[in-house]
Amino acid sequence: MKKGIFITIEGGEGAGKTTILRGIAEWLEAQGWEVVATREPGGIPIAEKIREVILDRRHADMDARTEALLYAAARRQHLVQKVEPALAAGKAVLCDRFVDSSLAYQGYARGLGIGEVWEINRFAMGDLLPDLTLYLDVRPEIGLGRIRSAGGREINRLDLEDLEFHRKVREGYRLLAERHPERIVTIDAEQPPERVLELAIRETASRIKGFHAPASNNILNP
Ligand code: TYD
Repeated sequence: MKKGIFITIEGGEGAGKTTILRGIAEWLEAQGWEVVATREPGGIPIAEKIREVILDRRHADMDARTEALLYAAARRQHLVQKVEPALAAGKAVLCDRFVDSSLAYQGYARGLGIGEVWEINRFAMGDLLPDLTLYLDVRPEIGLGRIRSAGGREINRLDLEDLEFHRKVREGYRLLAERHPERIVTIDAEQPPERVLELAIRETASRIKGFHAPASNNILNP
């Protein structure tokens, strides 16, 4: 039933996902795709509520499995309500974080096990996996510095983890990228944002060659 294209953007804190997502969305639109840009955890009201529970800084005593299950629950609702309908309609879905976040943060960095976290996510996702995942790789000391500097976003419960945790998140991502080269592309995100975007667009262009924007969406080919 899937006709569109599903691209996810991953990375540690302050990797610049939001900026890159916006740039790729514009590029895809210029190629004739109708784009749905969204994020996890969240993207729709039920998942946004779950997000508030997970990221609330007062919930310091949240159990790691509870955390993993809540992310999976938010993912399920977001998929059913937003991602799958958009893909079925032939759109390009760009999602800021997806299952690899759970594998890297809960599976690897929290130590629940990538395999275990994959199992609960399979239950949440069925067979759907991204067609392409762009992993923006940045050392945590650089990324955290970016978000803590003026103009950075609000600090949430996961940001408050120590540097060691964020190093593990990065290790987890790098392991996943090594295991799934057919899906995950690593981009060095310590470079200037224009350069990161240029590389991200180049990778997207070469990886989505087999996909075509449906004719009805394609302004170049009405
Ligand atoms: P957010 O404010 O969206 O951070 P960012 O701008 O870095 O994406 O917060 C999302 C937080 O949730 C972030 O610290 C990563 C974490 N997360 C997980 O631990 N597991 C997951 O499955 C997802 C989707 C996010």
